[in-house]
Amino acid sequence: MNEILVQYLVKNLIIKDRIIPNRMVLAPMAGLGHIALRRLISEFGGFGLLFTGMCNAKAIPHENPETSLVFKWRKEELSNLVCQIFGSDPKTMAAAAIRIEKEGFFGVDLNFGCSVAAICKKGYGAALLKKPDLSSKIVKAVREAVSIPVFVKFRTGWENNPLFPVDMAKRFEEAGADALTFHPRVAPDRRTRPPKWDMIRLVQESVSIPVFGNGNLFEKEDGIRMLRETFCQGLSIGRMAVARPWLFAQWTDGFLPGDDIYYKTALRFSYILSDHFDDHFAVKLFKKYAPYFCANFKFGHQLLKKLVYAQTMIDIRNNLASVFESTPEALSRPNINLFL
Ligand SMILES: Cc1cc2nc3c(=O)[nH]c(=O)nc-3n(C[C@H](O)[C@H](O)[C@H](O)COP(=O)(O)O)c2cc1C
Repeated sequence: MNEILVQYLVKNLIIKDRIIPNRMVLAPMAGLGHIALRRLISEFGGFGLLFTGMCNAKAIPHENPETSLVFKWRKEELSNLVCQIFGSDPKTMAAAAIRIEKEGFFGVDLNFGCSVAAICKKGYGAALLKKPDLSSKIVKAVREAVSIPVFVKFRTGWENNPLFPVDMAKRFEEAGADALTFHPRVAPDRRTRPPKWDMIRLVQESVSIPVFGNGNLFEKEDGIRMLRETFCQGLSIGRMAVARPWLFAQWTDGFLPGDDIYYKTALRFSYILSDHFDDHFAVKLFKKYAPYFCANFKFGHQLLKKLVYAQTMIDIRNNLASVFESTPEALSRPNINLFL
């Protein structure tokens, strides 16, 4: 059974009229899934698609990729890259999707899942799940505006009622979505309690478009178990892909990380960050990544403290060299307390 699922993971998946090479995708993550992290992940390969962090739909039509943090990409990644947008006005969302299509992205992803107060207060993200009719209108407007695949990312809703996400999934499909990513947690639960995977199965059974299951996928066994228990068509991986950017290659491509993978990867990431951002910003982004990286180690908290004591990227590289002088003990399962 497991062997069949391992094979399933590397099978092509059709989304609308396009094919992706396997069933593992990077989940959208604001502040983490930027051009530099995606480049690091791309150097290992093994994924089906990558997603940007959420972009404000209002800004997209006039956004300058040279200066934007989120609406920024490398040409080579566009054919596997989905741009996520948030907003609540159907016309604004459609206008953003038109620019995204023009730029050559694989698809556009609509955010119905973010439960951060600043987003929900404005009626965006998971707040839209309180307005199912408006949600349908948004998907419909985007569907009519573009011919690239339209993705929807959503969560359980605001109450623990499995009928609700099932109803929303049907609505999204009817309105023209080509694939769903479902994160089975209520808002505003922000990853403290475990996600309810059984709801992924219910959502998956209620639609005929592909459903990516999302939430607490840490090791390959978790991915196989999610496929087995939910019958979802793909896996969307967030935080663990930051902690271990080689994870896609490891799960789908037989990549075997050596003992030096941690130091090499963090060092490489420091150089990629410097390629794309000024020193001040590169340091800021490295510090955001550091808790995920340090979660790989037994004394991750101590390591994190040493690593982020830095003003410049040169400090960061010196800290990395000093921390890895004595090989820190790696954990097979990360210490998620570092990145809850
Ligand atoms: C720092 C951070 C930023 C996130 N930003 C977004 C976002 O912009 N859009 C979105 O749909 N979800 C966002 N998420 C949620 C993730 O896509 C994903 O649903 C969540 O992390 C659970 O998956 P995981 O257990 O694999 O990390 C974010 C999560 C984290 C940790």
